[in-house]
Amino acid sequence: MVLDSQNYYLVGLKLINQMIKLNSSPSLSGEITIPSDKSISHRAALLNSIAIGKSNILNYSDGEDCLSTISVLRKLGVKINLIPKSNSYELEIESDGLNSLATPKDKLFAGNSGTTTRLLAGILSFSNFNSILLGDDSLNSRPMKRIIDPLIMMGANIKSNDNCAPLEFSPSQLNGITYDMSVASAQVKSCIILATLGAKSKSVITQPALSRDHTERMLMSMNSDILVNGNEITINPGEIDSVDIEIPGDISSAAFWIVAALIHPKGNVILRNVGINPLRTGILEVLTKMGGNIEIFNEREVANEPVADIRVIHSELNGIEIQGDMIPKLIDEIPIIIIASVIAKGRTIIKDASELRVKETDRLLAMSEFLKLSNIKHNLLDDGIELDGNSNFIGGTFESFNDHRISMAIAVSSIISDKETIINNHEVASVSYKQFWDHLEKLKIYN
Ligand code: S3P
Repeated sequence: MVLDSQNYYLVGLKLINQMIKLNSSPSLSGEITIPSDKSISHRAALLNSIAIGKSNILNYSDGEDCLSTISVLRKLGVKINLIPKSNSYELEIESDGLNSLATPKDKLFAGNSGTTTRLLAGILSFSNFNSILLGDDSLNSRPMKRIIDPLIMMGANIKSNDNCAPLEFSPSQLNGITYDMSVASAQVKSCIILATLGAKSKSVITQPALSRDHTERMLMSMNSDILVNGNEITINPGEIDSVDIEIPGDISSAAFWIVAALIHPKGNVILRNVGINPLRTGILEVLTKMGGNIEIFNEREVANEPVADIRVIHSELNGIEIQGDMIPKLIDEIPIIIIASVIAKGRTIIKDASELRVKETDRLLAMSEFLKLSNIKHNLLDDGIELDGNSNFIGGTFESFNDHRISMAIAVSSIISDKETIINNHEVASVSYKQFWDHLEKLKIYN
């Protein structure tokens, strides 16, 4: 791995235009303890900041998105002690409950984090002060109508920039709603749930398909009055109790090594401490169906979430069709599944995934650009991608599109590429996985 120092330059204090050069590796093996789950980390900090009492959070993510959550909560006056540990933080949070946040002196900057923005919007909607929430250029261009509409139905006072951030909140008394969600989004669902905690009456939310349920699980452990019945969630307003939480590892980060081990002829890895919430394990189901040798062992429960260790051994893969209700269970893993499907024999078809077009970048377009430059024939669909596998990666120079998951997916292709792979702005991986490049190096040199 070579960092090209000539490509570094400084704007203000920010390093930009970084790039990395990667070469293929003779093996891909070893053991990695998967760093903390981003989704659960956000929720642990946000929910405990509006809960009554003190909480201790272990293994909080050191990714930039989760640090954005801490930074905005501190601006809202929440007492958070952030203790650095190796590869994570320990947090101590103290709060007096739902109405204990204070008027922020500045605008609330959520960086690149859609989860911070959409979940916090629910809380700011019932808070009795004015606030402005915004992010970087990517975040400010992502759709917020999906949360603005239900929040306004609840009675919230929100101004937006044409349904995008910056979002401006003014005090308002909220009522619960009965709401049929049009997209299967855990962020939208969680936003309405959080807004209802501070409302006058209950909400009943119906999801078109099941999406990750970390908010519901955590609220149950905080004595909230919440009931989940299939696709329907009933949440009553009211204070919640703080809870100590140990955050499991992120299956969305583990996904890169699962695919790396499957496609490398000498792939053999053990991944420790991986969260295997059934609404996040679509990646395991799909790769196993494709022929992947994936063993789940040491199953246990941590903080009301299932956790396990995973062993993955190189396997011959076959193409697959992925669509419908499966999509929300692997929404963040589609870029790395596309990398697996290039190597798999036969056709892979991914449909019903138009949500990928409104992530940190348009991930369907970004992966299509990568495939084009790699001479891999494919059809880019409005809501997915089709490609015939049994191909190989030729290397080249690629853009990360400033998207962490695109950068890491392309990096995985490099381990078996014919020639050098260069990724521009690769460092964006630290949005969710700060140790990614070190872990890649570790698995490449391990024997
Ligand atoms: C997340 C939900 C998903 C996912 C995102 C994290 C969450 O987004 O893509 O990375 O923590 O709730 P949507 O809810 O918009 O699908």
